[in-house]
Amino acid sequence: SLNTQRIDHIYESPQIKNPKFILHYGDLTDSMNITKIIQQCKPDEIYNLGAMSHVKVSFDTPEYTAQVNALGTLRILEAVKLLGLEKKTKIYQASTSELYGGMSENKNKGCYNESSEFYPRSPYGVAKLYGFWITKNYREAYNMFVCNGILFNHESSRRGETFVTRKITRAVAQIALGIKDKIYLGNLDAKRDWGHAKDYVRMMWMILQSEHADDWVIATGVGKTVRDFLVNAFLVLGIHIKFEGSGLDEKAYVTHCTKDEYKLEIGKEVLSIDPNYFRPSEVDTLIGDPTKAKEKLGWFPKYSFESLIKEMVISDVKLFKDHYRAV
Ligand code: GDD
Repeated sequence: SLNTQRIDHIYESPQIKNPKFILHYGDLTDSMNITKIIQQCKPDEIYNLGAMSHVKVSFDTPEYTAQVNALGTLRILEAVKLLGLEKKTKIYQASTSELYGGMSENKNKGCYNESSEFYPRSPYGVAKLYGFWITKNYREAYNMFVCNGILFNHESSRRGETFVTRKITRAVAQIALGIKDKIYLGNLDAKRDWGHAKDYVRMMWMILQSEHADDWVIATGVGKTVRDFLVNAFLVLGIHIKFEGSGLDEKAYVTHCTKDEYKLEIGKEVLSIDPNYFRPSEVDTLIGDPTKAKEKLGWFPKYSFESLIKEMVISDVKLFKDHYRAV
């Protein structure tokens, strides 16, 4: 992918002398390519964040999802082993809370730690389950320093626009600025443990600096619904909403606005439900218990649910203001 705008400020062309940051063309479905890059770089650390990462899309592309998320992980592990780098190269594998499946009848009541049972509910989750176990297997079989970070949802203003948090913050900014009428969402009652990507990426690095290779849950421990996220996102701009109706007929309306800059008409409809955004098998509740990471690695998240949303909404308001100023 050539969409490098997020890294342009740190990217140095390979033409310059001793560049610190170099890009290679890579594809997790291509073993030769992965092996060649690892052979050229002989890395100290590999962070495998490569994935087909959209849970809903994985129902439409299950085979490709398995190729990238499951076998892609194997390709990296096997390349490191094949090249004799087992003692040099540490590997971080991006595992996920989707491994748990989050069904409400589950005995964990939606709250999970490193010992909880897995029950993935999507082709994405099933493929990631392979990634988790093959990583653990290479650690045990070949004594490699390879670790799973079981990360719960982590967000920021750079989040892809089709994930629910960013979809909401973009839409709220557009509605407040009069660019968009309303937002369409799926399951408002899905509960997630949303943290800030900055906190979680710091922890990925800490995992590879720890004394022993292990698997770690990274989460805030706080569960909120999609509905909570929407309410809080509007509140950042002083817009209060209320919900009416139920199921597919549920709507949200503006009740009052407290900021002069974002005065919407009282009673304006700002949300409808679209069944297209429901998943064939839903993951109701995912909340993580990061006790082990806190006690053993001293990791604590710096961002709260509210400060995360505030940062994302303000960033999207700026984005749309800048865009409309430019055109
Ligand atoms: N995307 C989306 N769009 N989700 C919606 C919508 C909508 O319009 N309406 C409701 N939701 C609900 C989904 O059904 C889901 O329960 C929840 O919002 C979160 O959806 P996503 O933001 O798409 O994330 P996810 O939880 O499925 O998966 C993300 O987090 C995982 C755990 O860290 C992804 O980043 C995965 O790659 C990651 O493993």
